Amino acid sequence: MLNPRWPILGVTSLAVSLALATAAAAQAPQPPGKAASGAPVTNAQVMSAVPAVLNAFDLANNQGAERLIDEGRRIFRYDTFGSEAFWGDALGLHRAIAGARLGGVGPGLSPRAALALGLKVDADALPPDLVQQLRQGQRDLDDPATTLALLRLNAIVGLTARFTPEGGVRSVGMQCASCHSTVDNSFMKGIGHRLDGWPNRDRDVGKVILLAPNAKPLTDRLGIDEEALKKALTAWGPGKFDAELLHDGKAFRPDGKSAATLLPAAFGLAGVNNHTWTGWGSVTHWNAYVANTQMRGQGTFFDPRLNNPEKFPIAVKTGEWNIRKQPDLITAKLPALHLYQLAIAAPRPPEGSFDRAAATRGQSLFVGKAQCARCHVPPLFTEPGWPMHTADEIGIDDFQAKRSPDERYRTAPLKGLWAHMKGASTTTAGLRPFRMSSSTTMPI
Ligand code: HEC
Ligand code: HEC
Repeated sequence: MLNPRWPILGVTSLAVSLALATAAAAQAPQPPGKAASGAPVTNAQVMSAVPAVLNAFDLANNQGAERLIDEGRRIFRYDTFGSEAFWGDALGLHRAIAGARLGGVGPGLSPRAALALGLKVDADALPPDLVQQLRQGQRDLDDPATTLALLRLNAIVGLTARFTPEGGVRSVGMQCASCHSTVDNSFMKGIGHRLDGWPNRDRDVGKVILLAPNAKPLTDRLGIDEEALKKALTAWGPGKFDAELLHDGKAFRPDGKSAATLLPAAFGLAGVNNHTWTGWGSVTHWNAYVANTQMRGQGTFFDPRLNNPEKFPIAVKTGEWNIRKQPDLITAKLPALHLYQLAIAAPRPPEGSFDRAAATRGQSLFVGKAQCARCHVPPLFTEPGWPMHTADEIGIDDFQAKRSPDERYRTAPLKGLWAHMKGASTTTAGLRPFRMSSSTTMPI
């Protein structure tokens, strides 16, 4: 039970172990066939015998964690980090949503068009009378005024509008939830209860951005014209985004396909080291990266690995490897945001949704002959440690890897894969589905 290499700890842990072992022997159920006394006490028995009473320090930690998780959820869903300055004030996205008739430009974005672009509506934010009207078809889903009504209720997942006192829409900002949440479609397709952490593989991020009347901040930054921007963002398609484009300016892969990647799941991440397909850093590193440089919020971000003129020319030119904006609307939110994401469990597949016998056969291949478990180590399904591999090791091209600091791919934690099957035939734009060789072992 004691690790002989820890002689100093040994004395105290021996006493603790003995006390616990005694308690365990007295309280824990004995495994069948084992005598109550003299039987070896398992670690699980010791753990289950730990007193359930929490002292004041423990209680404060528990309560603090719960508060932080609630706060993180609010931030994930509703905090725009000041990104209105970009999406609204600079690009004018709110004007395209409202449409000319309601003080904006163009035809406006009707709820039907919004749903078609993969935007989701939070059914829990709708008051009963509106639910009733929607059920009875009394609300015009082709009228942008209905979209503004939904925005006023904070019911469009991941988008928040600001209104003038007169009721006109003044600006719009975005949230983490816009890409990393969907809904369960319980009301109708696209309208339901929120599911945070589930990637929204319906959302056409590129087309939503292209609604904006002023593309200049993007075309100037990328050094391309509007036509080229349109081509690049249209090529993304539903469920994809390019989180490196604004730093390296690479809109397309050498084979002419879009450089965007699929939106990954943001659930089941506790215990996983390194995040994003290419393992840029921890959850909290990436949150600061995204909130500052992608959502275009206002805060502080430092990552000297981006200060690399060959790899990230735009990050160097714009100085965005070292952002210090005041007031900082992001940094104070990182702890809660971090804990919340670690708390989101990977969803379990619904009962009866798969063939158990086939899954069991797959599992034995996974941990056996096919050697998947060598990298996808259960129950984390990624390697504990530094779970990074070269493109060669896993038999895919190195395009996305080369756009990241470590130039490797992170072993994707596979939990909850069923919840984002759309687009799952390839992870990154360049990943070919794994093909088993005749000997069904990985070519590594
Ligand atoms: C516009 C869409 C978009 C928004 C908004 C967005 N993300 Fe992401 N997120 C992505 C994409 C795409 C990736 C994968 C990037 C890559 O691999 O290059 C990603 C990766 C991640 C990951 C890594 C998951 C893993 O595989 O380990 C986490 C965690 C995450 N985002 C959290 C957040 C949080 C928190 C916010 C808000 C601060 C946010 N994201 C905002 C698109 C988005
Ligand atoms: C050498 C390590 C390694 C082995 C062995 C390995 N994988 Fe992976 N796997 C990875 C890496 C790294 C990625 C991420 C690739 C990327 O981001 O494009 C990945 C990605 C995946 C994905 C995509 C996950 C997602 O979120 O879309 C699936 C599915 C998968 N692996 C299944 C398997 C199966 C099944 C096997 C066994 C036949 C296997 N892997 C063997 C390293 C490995």
